[in-house]
Amino acid sequence: MCGIIGYTGHLDALHVLLNGLEQLEYRGYDSAGIALFSSGNDRFIMKKAGPVATLKDACADVDIISHCGIGHTRWATHGGVNDTNAHPHIAGKVTLIHNGIIENYHNLIERFGLRDSLVSETDTEVAARVLDYYYKGDPYEAIRRTTREITGSYAFCIMFEDIHDQIFCVRNVSPMVAAHMKDGSFVASDVTAIIPYTNRYFVIPEYQIVTLRQDGISVQDLNGNPVEPEMLEVSWNVEAAKKNGYPHYMLKEIHEQPDALRNTITPRLNDGLPDFSEDGIPDRILSSCDKIAIVACGTAMYAGMVGKALIEPIIKIPVSVNIASEFRYENPLVDEKTLVIVISQSGETIDTLAALRLSRKCGARVLSIVNVKGSTIARESNYVFYTHAGPEIAVASTKAYMVQLASLYLIGCRTAMVRGKFSESDARTFISRLMDSIPAVQSVLADKDRLKAAASVLAKAQDAFFVGRGLDYAFSLEGSLKLKEISYIHAEAYAAGELKHGTIALIEENTPVIAVATQDKIYGKTVSNIKEVKARGAFVILITKENAEVSEDISDMHFTVPVPYDQFTVFPVAVILQLLAYYTSDMKGLNVDKPRNLAKSVTVE
Ligand code: AGP
Repeated sequence: MCGIIGYTGHLDALHVLLNGLEQLEYRGYDSAGIALFSSGNDRFIMKKAGPVATLKDACADVDIISHCGIGHTRWATHGGVNDTNAHPHIAGKVTLIHNGIIENYHNLIERFGLRDSLVSETDTEVAARVLDYYYKGDPYEAIRRTTREITGSYAFCIMFEDIHDQIFCVRNVSPMVAAHMKDGSFVASDVTAIIPYTNRYFVIPEYQIVTLRQDGISVQDLNGNPVEPEMLEVSWNVEAAKKNGYPHYMLKEIHEQPDALRNTITPRLNDGLPDFSEDGIPDRILSSCDKIAIVACGTAMYAGMVGKALIEPIIKIPVSVNIASEFRYENPLVDEKTLVIVISQSGETIDTLAALRLSRKCGARVLSIVNVKGSTIARESNYVFYTHAGPEIAVASTKAYMVQLASLYLIGCRTAMVRGKFSESDARTFISRLMDSIPAVQSVLADKDRLKAAASVLAKAQDAFFVGRGLDYAFSLEGSLKLKEISYIHAEAYAAGELKHGTIALIEENTPVIAVATQDKIYGKTVSNIKEVKARGAFVILITKENAEVSEDISDMHFTVPVPYDQFTVFPVAVILQLLAYYTSDMKGLNVDKPRNLAKSVTVE
């Protein structure tokens, strides 16, 4: 949520910042702004409501030589979307950009008598004014005193008017990384903005002050003691963060799923069996727990729903799925005997992070399934299971969901082995079926054009329903989220048997119902539910296995998945649902990769 970039060095800072903001735009795209020191040491600011492209246009005629500056792309929390509320904010000698929320900004306004001096409606400007109040020529002292005043989350990037070539950063919770190479020093919300320059970086530790200079970066704690940050390396290159000929990141990422699955699964196979020794995940955490609590948000949580439906019947201990934003406020039943599995693509989702911290406080061991290396959730977990999906740029999660599923399948299989629920031969069969899901995903991708006809029906609809039972219901939840977030069509997922208890009242002539019926053991029941909506005029888009017996009168369109085993249909079904959402959004002419009101990484509560 909000993207931050800062640069000081020999390159053209304006160019570096605008390019960086384009890379970070998926974090928030309500407005964007930059602040630069010109070669004559004047402060230059440009900020605009709208996408980074609007800021770029506004900067097209800017004739300024600058080697030091900061930039921001905003996802509004306090104050509407307009030029004034866009960052950077200036207060006296301070120029500040911020990602996060200052929770006590009302108190600070009173305490520092700021009511008449504020020009924006933002909490960020309040922080800038407090910082300016404390700034008497010593940036470290001012930052120290300001952070003592502030409660909330923040990643601050600061320039002081009389220090023309340095950028100061400090953070609490909200993410920020930094890197130095021969052309200068960079700070950014995530590595996508710095990967064109270097693949070596460090995560800025919380409550430490980082100073970017042209010739290096220094880190000190709040007492002024120097700190040596831990360097990390990005394992993907700049090409991975480009569209590579696809019209949208989402479509590219959907197509990357077979590789992402292979990258996540194969390094964890040893002689055809799951083995997590390279991840440092001991069997004892899987064998000694008496329950599993999965905690996540959005798509990651829906991956957890599939995980529960798969794992609980196999290992026969309670597996719960918890919405992270609710979990921390409902006195969760978590203790030393609970294995908490936290799932997060970004590793920065604040609700998920808070749930993780609470779980650890309750004595639980936390195993996180995370895509972004070195992210806060990864660092704070007892054990990390990294998914190897590469960067996911589209706001709608696709390949991250796919590898989260694969991770849960691997973890489920290993847990079943170590708890004596799977023999070696059961586990081998399970893994070989998991591997067979990859060509099944590929075959859906190869036949994707057929889905456009179904999307053209959805594109005209105001509402759509996704129905399924058992695992199919778990898949439907994600299908419905995908459609609503990028096509703005109201979509709901229901356990098919539940429709007749109320929701069926909403079915009218031509209401689209996407019916997922891939589970043999309840296939007949699901078909009965489909007939009930068909009888009331629904337009049924049916998804079954290839070998299912389907009578013509129950659907208007029919798609199949080439997987014979109930437990593994999710992989190709997910691709069908993703593509349906993608084509629908594209046909409606919407911004597929950056849907309205959303941001990729939700770092505010
Ligand atoms: C999915 O398409 C979303 N954009 C969203 O639900 C996302 O999955 C959720 O915010 C969790 O993010 P995380 O995996 O980075 O924690």
